[in-house]
Amino acid sequence: MLELKDVTISYKNRPTVKNFNLSLEQGKICSIVGESGSGKTTVIRAVLGLLAGGGKVTEGDILFEGKSLLKNTREEWRKLRGTDISMIFQDSGAMTNQTRVIGKQFVEYIRTHEDISKKDAWDKGIKMLERMRLPSGDNIMKSYPFQLSGGMRQRVGIAMAMTFQPKLLLADEPTSALDVTTQAQIVRQMMELRDEYKTSIIVVTHNLGVAAYMSDFIVVMKDGEIVDAGGRDHILHRSESEYTKGLLDAVPSLGGVRYV
Ligand SMILES: Nc1ncnc2c1ncn2[C@@H]1O[C@H](COP(=O)(O)OP(=O)(O)OP(=O)(O)O)[C@@H](O)[C@H]1O
Ligand SMILES: [Mg+2]
Repeated sequence: MLELKDVTISYKNRPTVKNFNLSLEQGKICSIVGESGSGKTTVIRAVLGLLAGGGKVTEGDILFEGKSLLKNTREEWRKLRGTDISMIFQDSGAMTNQTRVIGKQFVEYIRTHEDISKKDAWDKGIKMLERMRLPSGDNIMKSYPFQLSGGMRQRVGIAMAMTFQPKLLLADEPTSALDVTTQAQIVRQMMELRDEYKTSIIVVTHNLGVAAYMSDFIVVMKDGEIVDAGGRDHILHRSESEYTKGLLDAVPSLGGVRYV
């Protein structure tokens, strides 16, 4: 459903991500791991057509359901983003406007993609919050982002991203700002969403433990290139890459249990 073919991404004509290949099937979860600056965010922003700093895909192609995303017009992107392809960020609280209650932002978001009344959009928002097991959706809709905990804000972000049952969900460090218990809950909820909606997910994470726990496929990046890639078990148990082995050794244990 998503295919990156020999993709090179450059900032100001300097190639930063080189020869990136990935093929993701419907309903699968893929993680991209690697140290800071390896190009993880660059890759998923390219998929969403939202590269910052004048970044451009200079070689290769990105296909979504067989169609090149690189040729999309502004209008085509407007229809696609937030509906078929959506994104959640490291701290959704930081992405939302702090001075407006969640409900107003949620309603506005829904109404940019669907022609429904404010009341219906409000109800739809509450339904999504409840799906993410956020109790008293009405209270949350009336809250300002800063009034919620980091974990709640992240669930709100996921609820918003899932509103239109995207075929592809991109998540950049979705749990890194959270404590380990909340991290585990959010990861499990994302897996449930995949099971329920058959959404394909790409997760960017520093944490190979998280990647190992939730992914079908893992891509390891270093300095803008893929240094290792394979099914979860391959990466965890049979990788020949010294770099991957180093990352695995660095995974901390949680409550005495190692995730990998
Ligand atoms: N807006 C930008 N303008 C110019 N160069 C950029 C920009 N964003 C990223 N880069 C370049 O791309 C490289 C990879 O950055 P990227 O943000 O993709 O890494 P990352 O793997 O997501 O790192 P982190 O784990 O710290 O988030 C950077 O080292 C930098 O050289
Ligand atoms: Mg990043």
